[in-house]
Amino acid sequence: MKGIACLILAAGKSTRMKSRVPKVLHELCGQAMIDYPVNLARDIGIEKILVVIGHQYDLVKRYLGDRVQTIRQDHLLGTADAVLRAKNELEANAPDVLILYADTPLLKLQTLKKLLARHRVSQAPCTLLTSVLKNPTGYGRIARNDRNHITRIVEEEEASVYEKAIEEVNGGAYSFRTKELFEVLGEVEPAKKKKELYLTDVISILARRGLKVESVSTDDPTEIMGVNTRSDLATTQSLMRKRILAGLMKRGVTIVDPEATYIDSQVKIGEDSVVHPNTYIEGEVEIGRNCSIGPSARIRGEARLSDGVSIGNFVEVVRSRVGRNTKIKHFSYIGDCTMGKDVNIGAGTVTANYDGSKKSQTIIEEGAFIGSGTILVAPVRVGRNAVTGAGCVVPAGKDVPANTVVVGVPARVLKRVKRGR
Ligand code: UD1
Ligand code: CA
Repeated sequence: MKGIACLILAAGKSTRMKSRVPKVLHELCGQAMIDYPVNLARDIGIEKILVVIGHQYDLVKRYLGDRVQTIRQDHLLGTADAVLRAKNELEANAPDVLILYADTPLLKLQTLKKLLARHRVSQAPCTLLTSVLKNPTGYGRIARNDRNHITRIVEEEEASVYEKAIEEVNGGAYSFRTKELFEVLGEVEPAKKKKELYLTDVISILARRGLKVESVSTDDPTEIMGVNTRSDLATTQSLMRKRILAGLMKRGVTIVDPEATYIDSQVKIGEDSVVHPNTYIEGEVEIGRNCSIGPSARIRGEARLSDGVSIGNFVEVVRSRVGRNTKIKHFSYIGDCTMGKDVNIGAGTVTANYDGSKKSQTIIEEGAFIGSGTILVAPVRVGRNAVTGAGCVVPAGKDVPANTVVVGVPARVLKRVKRGR
């Protein structure tokens, strides 16, 4: 999308989180809070994304890498000052700017698209997002005149008892015409009580100049929830989890008990797969169609499960690939492993992938049958259609040849077999 930049404010000190970790790096369903607005901007199609960082600048900058352009706010004087830091960059490059806060991760793509569409049509200097909350405490209140035009935003600390009763609040997403924004931003003065320079004060300045402030409202008030405390973080996470599960169900995945299923935002699962309760699927995991996962399974670390895979109770799969129709049904640890199709992993199998200093790979080729309680000490390979006996330990480097049965501790060849299809 040309001509529009996205400015994300992430410099705040997040005092209310009581944390040494910057607020925007706290995790929500597998991604840092800051990733959500950055991804939204990218999904809208905005190429120029600027993030204002202040508190713990280096940590946040390192996390963001070169995905975005960062701007430094040395003194945390308030949201208006944060925007001022981006003045030159924006004036030179973008006639319009979408401003987001880094601490409202539940904002939806659809809503922002609506906001931008209204902004394009109305050509107003500012179009902002509002919502009506039963309990508006903590948010800026939207004051309107008798023609229903927005006249100002009143922050909680500065609001009178009457203003506090207003239920329409500022959602913290704005689309501005860059030129008009910077014409008035310099006029913002420190707020009476909190002494901060509030971005929201530009609204009354624009209105006083007779300029129209447009708004778009969302009827899902959870969407604008700002994360200011650990308690907000937990609430936001549980709302986001519901949204992720609803999305998966819409795409044809059965979630047996959404109250007891924990799936991160980047996970992909194919149609007709079933996820049983108490299951955790974390990070960038991809699961195919017709799989059965859990109950009580944990899949993580970019694991890839092909179609028809069955993962049972108390099984952990991490950084591994599992081939079509393979079964791992009872308490097992599979780490750093590449497994072919039609493998059967017996109960209690462990890939011993870590020797105390480095992690090594295990390869299990198609059709292999791993007996209960087998320990595969990596690096090791189990050949096609090979069989390991119950309780067998296959030492590192002692590969099991294809079509061979091995037993014992350490594993030794018992016989050759003809198995498989
Ligand atoms: C802000 C809005 C409020 C709105 C609410 C929605 C202002 C003045 N108020 O309040 O109207 O209802 O969000 O969630 O904008 N930040 C900086 N530099 C600073 C100060 C803040 O980058 O000097 C960043 C923070 O990191 C944060 C964002 O700006 O991501 C908003 O600041 P915050 O202090 O959380 O504002 P709220 O009090 O939540
Ligand atoms: Ca906030």
